[in-house]
Amino acid sequence: MDDFIELDGVEKVFEVRRRTGFLRRTRTEVRAVDGISFRVARGEMVGYIGPNGAGKSTTIKMLTGILVPSGGRLRVAGIDPSRERTRLARRIGVVFGQRTTLWWDLPLRDSYGLVRRMYRIPDARYRANLDRCVELLDLGALLDVPVRQLSLGQRMRGDIAAALLHDPEVLYLDEPTIGLDVVSKAKVREFLRDVNAERGTTVLLTTHDLTDIEQLCKRVMVIDHGRLVHDGALDGLHAIGESERMLVVDLERELPPIDGILGARTVKVEGPRQWLAFAATRSAAPVVAAVAERYPLVDLSVREPDIEEVIARMYAGRASL
Ligand SMILES: Nc1ncnc2c1ncn2[C@@H]1O[C@H](COP(=O)(O)OP(=O)(O)OP(=O)(O)O)[C@@H](O)[C@H]1O
Ligand SMILES: [Mg+2]
Repeated sequence: MDDFIELDGVEKVFEVRRRTGFLRRTRTEVRAVDGISFRVARGEMVGYIGPNGAGKSTTIKMLTGILVPSGGRLRVAGIDPSRERTRLARRIGVVFGQRTTLWWDLPLRDSYGLVRRMYRIPDARYRANLDRCVELLDLGALLDVPVRQLSLGQRMRGDIAAALLHDPEVLYLDEPTIGLDVVSKAKVREFLRDVNAERGTTVLLTTHDLTDIEQLCKRVMVIDHGRLVHDGALDGLHAIGESERMLVVDLERELPPIDGILGARTVKVEGPRQWLAFAATRSAAPVVAAVAERYPLVDLSVREPDIEEVIARMYAGRASL
């Protein structure tokens, strides 16, 4: 009833021609999206993750109407995106982290002016939205700089603002934090959280950074080889994957493998450096404290599990069932 995004058995098959000989070309099919079904309710903020080539961007392109599905049924706000792309465009915002939608030679301000005219955004609303984005995304000093001169992080913030000026009901983000430093990432996340909470904007977020998902999404969908392999809470994902975090410790000298730390096991030793694996759902603090108490520590760091690893473990787990 209140499902804003609906996919039923959606498929996208690309036909690719490959040179296989001097004059020979063979046609092969790539099933980029292979029968995906899900629902997203209005106001939800959902993570959409998976390894390279899984079909994430292809899904988003179908949701925006850029690509036409090869099969299945797809609706956004009751509209078939590829059939009524222009009508839908007023209601959606898109950010592709890998390429800008801004005008390369124009200052940000002029790009936004064009967006305003394209969507015929009423003056007062445009100004209010722009002011808010400028403030929260720290764009004030950048408005008169041509887009080509912006750093990646500045450009990304500029892109996110551009996608929100017309008050879209849904925002698709395809890797909006790619290549950003820690401070910029935090700023972008905080902004997205606000937009979702205050305006009730529905958000679909694709990323390779699990921290983005952890900080923003209660629900996460995992796609692999064009199929949905998980749809639920992030905690559930950790449990399914039984993913592990890694404590990397540098000891004062070479020692036998660290032993007897509750809930952690040593998986690798290289000179004075040792790696201890522990469950991703656990806090690192007690593990660190236990090691520090009994071993001569010089330095340590904690490595988070990455999405590819989590998915790999999910598959490994299934294969053995
Ligand atoms: N226009 C196209 N023509 C042919 N094949 C394509 C096209 N676009 C995507 N593909 C293929 O479809 C599959 C899914 O690609 P997609 O870009 O959706 O992956 P992704 O999940 O976004 O990956 P990444 O994390 O690397 O961005 C890949 O095998 C890709 O090579
Ligand atoms: Mg992609």
